[in-house]
Amino acid sequence: MDTLLTIDEFEEAARGALPAATFDYYAGGAGDLSSLRRNREAYAALAVHYRVFRDVSSCDLSCEILGHKLPHPILAAPTAFHCLANPEGEVATARGLAEAGALMTLSSLSTRTVEDVASASPGPKWFQLYINRDRGFTRELIARVEAAGYSAIVVTADTPRWGRRHADIRNGFHLPPGLDAVNLVRSHADAASLSHSGAGLGSAFDWMLDASLTWRDFEGVCGRSRLPVLVKGVCRADDAVAAFNAGAAGVVVSNHGGRQLD
Ligand code: LAC
Repeated sequence: MDTLLTIDEFEEAARGALPAATFDYYAGGAGDLSSLRRNREAYAALAVHYRVFRDVSSCDLSCEILGHKLPHPILAAPTAFHCLANPEGEVATARGLAEAGALMTLSSLSTRTVEDVASASPGPKWFQLYINRDRGFTRELIARVEAAGYSAIVVTADTPRWGRRHADIRNGFHLPPGLDAVNLVRSHADAASLSHSGAGLGSAFDWMLDASLTWRDFEGVCGRSRLPVLVKGVCRADDAVAAFNAGAAGVVVSNHGGRQLD
């Protein structure tokens, strides 16, 4: 294999190595992909206007976030279904991130259990939560996450419905037999067959989303957990203020990688 140096090179290698439907799911976005495109343009537009002749022989990127000392401010966002790419799935991700000194955020839609991932590495870990339509199940999941040693909960706020992802619909994206969103299994005994129905994420995991969620439900999660709770998916200053008023320990500024509202 060629030496891979840049993120674009890794993406191209993944395109060659993964089934097309898996690659498209990981790499894609919603609608006309305009948010996805504009995310990239926004990063490309950032320029470092540097100064010269400053002593940079010793650099320190270390930082502290919610009690964790990190060697650099690199945190991995939650992403779903790692077993589609690697048999060890999120367990391998956890080991790699710990080696890199990065904080991991495990997705609700993980293909390995919260317990397996927790014991895979000593690295710092947060858990991303979709507030499930079944609030009893949500409470049980939070208890599991706390018992397994995750140090924060990151509640996704931008997903009252799934984004309409044309590539997934065309590809009939689905989890192959043998793979599942294992942490949600109890909740979707009757929906298990849907996850294999090949109609894209939208129809396979609709049953867990609750489009009626408000800040009150978020406050409920804050009140129920002893962990700090962050809000992910905030794109406006007034929503960041609302998050802090509701008890958030932080916000993750994100439009879900352009995968939700385009
Ligand atoms: C996605 C969901 C799982 O973006 O967060 O695919």
